[in-house]
Amino acid sequence: MRKRLYIGFLLLLSSGFAIAQEHLPSQSFNGRWRFLLGDDSLARYARYDDSKWRKLNLPHDWSIEGAFDEKATSTTNEGALPTGLGWYRKTFTLPASAKGKSTYIDFDGIYKNSEVWINGHYLGKRPNGYISFRYDLTPYLNHSKPNVIAVKVDNSEQPNSRWYSGSGIYRNVWLVTTGYLGFAHNGTFVTTSSVTKDKALVNIQTIINHANIQRADLNITVEDAQGKIVSTKGTYLADTIEKDIVINKPILWSLTHPYLYKVKLRILSGTKVLDSQTVDFGIRTFNFDKDKGFSLNGKPLKIQGVCEHHDLGALGAAVNTAAIAHKLRILKVMGCNAIRTAHNPPAPEFLDLCDKMGFLVMDEAFDMWAKKKNKFDYYRDWKAWHKIDLEDQVKRDRNHPSVFVWSIGNEIREQFDTSGIRIAKELVGIVKSLDPTRPVTSALSENRPEKNYIYQSHALDLVGLNYHQEAYADFPKNYPGEKFIATETMSALATRGHYDPVSDTTLKWPHNSKSKFTDGNADLTVSAYDNVAAYWGSTHEETWKIIKKYDFLSGLFVWTGFDYLGEPTPYPWPARSSYFGIIDLAGFPKDVYYMYQSEWTDKPVLHILPHWNWQPGKIVDVWAYYNQADEVELFLNGRSLGSKRKQGDDLHIAWKVPYEPGILKAVSRLNGKVVLTTEVKTAGAPAKIALVPDRKQIKADGNDLSYITVRILDEHGIPVPNADNLINFEVTGAGTFAAADNGLQTSLESFKASHHKAFNGLCMAIVQSKARAGAITVKASSPGLKSQSVTITVR
Ligand code: GAL
Repeated sequence: MRKRLYIGFLLLLSSGFAIAQEHLPSQSFNGRWRFLLGDDSLARYARYDDSKWRKLNLPHDWSIEGAFDEKATSTTNEGALPTGLGWYRKTFTLPASAKGKSTYIDFDGIYKNSEVWINGHYLGKRPNGYISFRYDLTPYLNHSKPNVIAVKVDNSEQPNSRWYSGSGIYRNVWLVTTGYLGFAHNGTFVTTSSVTKDKALVNIQTIINHANIQRADLNITVEDAQGKIVSTKGTYLADTIEKDIVINKPILWSLTHPYLYKVKLRILSGTKVLDSQTVDFGIRTFNFDKDKGFSLNGKPLKIQGVCEHHDLGALGAAVNTAAIAHKLRILKVMGCNAIRTAHNPPAPEFLDLCDKMGFLVMDEAFDMWAKKKNKFDYYRDWKAWHKIDLEDQVKRDRNHPSVFVWSIGNEIREQFDTSGIRIAKELVGIVKSLDPTRPVTSALSENRPEKNYIYQSHALDLVGLNYHQEAYADFPKNYPGEKFIATETMSALATRGHYDPVSDTTLKWPHNSKSKFTDGNADLTVSAYDNVAAYWGSTHEETWKIIKKYDFLSGLFVWTGFDYLGEPTPYPWPARSSYFGIIDLAGFPKDVYYMYQSEWTDKPVLHILPHWNWQPGKIVDVWAYYNQADEVELFLNGRSLGSKRKQGDDLHIAWKVPYEPGILKAVSRLNGKVVLTTEVKTAGAPAKIALVPDRKQIKADGNDLSYITVRILDEHGIPVPNADNLINFEVTGAGTFAAADNGLQTSLESFKASHHKAFNGLCMAIVQSKARAGAITVKASSPGLKSQSVTITVR
């Protein structure tokens, strides 16, 4: 987690003595950059004239600003958006207090092949698009005149990814100033080596730069979540320091109570603070057991996870904490408790949120090693960079309580030959040298143990299997003594709100690896009854039933939580985003979301599908997901169609109903007592717009977001399930229009345009606060419909 340094010259009262702090903070370095989409090799020089370049603030993703294009070299696998080459420059002056200090620039992530110059001096190249890295600016800085930092970003060689990457400085940038004598970058490691009800032993290791230049002390304090000091310790300074600290009656970090402590480290010379650092941590224990599966803090827990790529839907790859929090909230409500960061290190803010919101994280490093999956992918950088990249990832992320498993790779091609043995051993060794506390896995697609050379390395703590759910029951037989995790499952497909007639036959789209997929629906939709999956996967129900059944199956990661840009299996252009999500790209749950919610939460659930607008006489398959009830009765226009109960391992019940317009109502009961009632109604023609913001009050920080659900209703207020009206958005006041999306995988509308069509009755508008308090007014209008406005408070 990012270490925050204290601002300015403060007097702090801590552990009973006064401490003077006199170093500079880690500052956001996102503001006031200049950007050129294109190349100009002279842009590296300090005196280059960039006054005509576009002004912008980071994080920035130029791909998402472009138009979808069938001919994009990135292909539909990467979302059919433009890539290319760009330059960023920023001119800045340092405060007088920076003199005599060390100044660094931290990039959380640049996609990709970034090269950086400060005042014309070359600082280096970083090919990996997902890694965080630092340069030391100190020797090249001007203290009496402006400085110029120039960054070249080259994402032009395509294809280089199997999913949408985004292009540019798409994560945060920080300017960090420390004393010359100070904490090493990501050099602190906090672990809890023994935890009982009465006490936790916290082990703190830290590395100090230039410890020998001056006599100084290290002061360590641990604070609880209220900021109360619960433990403190002091020691002489040395190059490396390791200390144990006891916390009495520790409060454990868990999924329902993600309690965080802080370790504050200060290097003191007398009462003067030369450097300081704060690291959040949580106290928790966990275990994978070959027979009993996973447990957290001693309690059995099924891992109910999803895989997620890093894009934020209509916002592209540009990191926004509010957008990540929005996704995580939707997953939390579904009962999801774990995320796999497919297939790369995530943004630091993602891990901070998982710590705070209570998610477990499988932190994954690579999608390929030395063997390529795409012509221009990371395999070219493997030799020179894999060790550095993996070390930097582990050092950055190892203090997060949410991170519980490291994955050294996804479906790596070396699993098929003996080089897999050597590389797996090397990578696991790198991880263990920096963090011996967490298990290491790799997501394996070859599930025959004797044929899988990564498995044959015997370096993995956990066997991670992708797909092949039919073999899970035999896992103990095939992998004697091993511990299991389903690293990737399902790859089921759906378009939100679209229903093809037959729901009780399972379809494989594409059908197999041999023939080209040419059928499917003419409009490139996929039915949202959970009955379509890629041939290597399964429906959601099929795999969950198996995972649920056996204790030794510790859990799973569903491919995927949200639809993502790129990889539009099973369809070609104009499909440009995936169909795999439980939730669509705009953030609207598909129906199967409620299957998971009924299984993964204690919340009473009753959900019926499909909508109720059909041709009279048509036989419609009606499904219900429910829990905490023993029967569901269905009524059409007040007439009972009978009660049904799930049998055996059923996860839903179904009726075949001859359609007639009106009201389809379901009532769930437990022991004859009504638990829940829900209904769908036949809608008339679109007549008006309804707006529902997820948050009515957001922060005046220039970044916060409100997601406004736009519903098309008929004149009686009934949602119109197939409405696709074009909606215009007008955003005024203390915010701006950020993006809009409707979740349709084939829509070629720009996310950034302030008008967007609804799809199957819904659209999502995202508005962003300005850095000032006030109110945002959002007006949505559409020809022929009654418009609506909503106000969001910004403070
Ligand atoms: C997997 C792969 C994922 C994604 C998925 C689509 O094999 O690991 O990255 O491509 O297939 O079904």
